[in-house]
Amino acid sequence: MAKILKPTEENLRDIRKFLRLGELVAIPTETVYGLAANALDADACAKIFAAKQRPNNDPLICHVASYEALERFCETNDASKILADAFWPGPLTFVLPKKSSIPDIVTAGLDSVAVRSPSHPVFRQLIEDCDFPLAAPSANPFAYISPTLARHVQANLGDRIEYILDGGPCEHGVESTIMDLRDPANPKILRYGALPIEKIENALKRRLIRPEPNSNQTAISIAPGSLPKHYSPRTLLELRSNAVRESELTESDQSIAYLLLRKPLHARANNIHWLSENGELKAIASRLYAKLRELDETGYKKIIAEEAPELGLGLAINDRLRRASFR
Ligand code: TXA
Ligand code: MG
Repeated sequence: MAKILKPTEENLRDIRKFLRLGELVAIPTETVYGLAANALDADACAKIFAAKQRPNNDPLICHVASYEALERFCETNDASKILADAFWPGPLTFVLPKKSSIPDIVTAGLDSVAVRSPSHPVFRQLIEDCDFPLAAPSANPFAYISPTLARHVQANLGDRIEYILDGGPCEHGVESTIMDLRDPANPKILRYGALPIEKIENALKRRLIRPEPNSNQTAISIAPGSLPKHYSPRTLLELRSNAVRESELTESDQSIAYLLLRKPLHARANNIHWLSENGELKAIASRLYAKLRELDETGYKKIIAEEAPELGLGLAINDRLRRASFR
């Protein structure tokens, strides 16, 4: 079983050595836990695909300490500079033309690479003394719910890796927002995520085209990992676009879990669950994956979940819920 390590100086030194030797370590970020390897070492990165059972055509994100580190790995431009100045370190990933230092396995043979600089203090402490970037997808088995606690990683990948670095619960709880910046004059949203699109639009001083929910045609060709079924519990998940009424809750079948956006006024049966007190999107996003895991483990025959409003973090929450409900 993998050891969960506290982020002491000594443990961080050992983890850097282990990564340098070409091994995998699960690490905390402010979005979700990642499964990291030296991004310049093709054999090490191959181990990520094997441990996650991830198809080889699904490229990895490279994590760097700073914007300055990027020049070695990809071509930057005005748009990446503006967005990095505004949001890095943080939950925003850029897709940019890659340089030859990044092995093909990392980018699934594409001529672009996805890069971000996380803000999690433990992650930063780790990478600041690494002389290589870290390739890291979310530390879940392919298509399952992403981990937001060290013990989630332990439960799913504990028998396939040796170390999990514990950085506590992830602040955002959903993955980074991904922007295609290959053409700086025409930035595109590839994945809704923890950084709301409206903030990116403000920084770029332009409106962006919103991908239609579940319109995977364009997304798949550019971001091969954006499959309609993803982030999925084993339990069937049904989505409701309107709030569930209290009358339905009070008469509900106990074998069905209700996942509400906010605490209901009266209904308090064991099968009624909520993600926030008052509907705050930040709280909802940060608890979503942990709650889905909990419900998946309880053995309900179905989960009925409410959709969030279609704005800000609600776009990322709904994107994950729709993929989780896809059958
Ligand atoms: O918050 C996050 O982004 C987390 C943490 C660990 O940083 N990472 C994460 O990685 O969500 P992952 O592998 O679960 O999702 C990465 C997605 C891929 O599925 C793919 O769609 C997209 O990033 N991607 C990676 N490289 C790309 C490229 N060159 N072009 C287009 N999309 C790319
Ligand atoms: Mg993932």
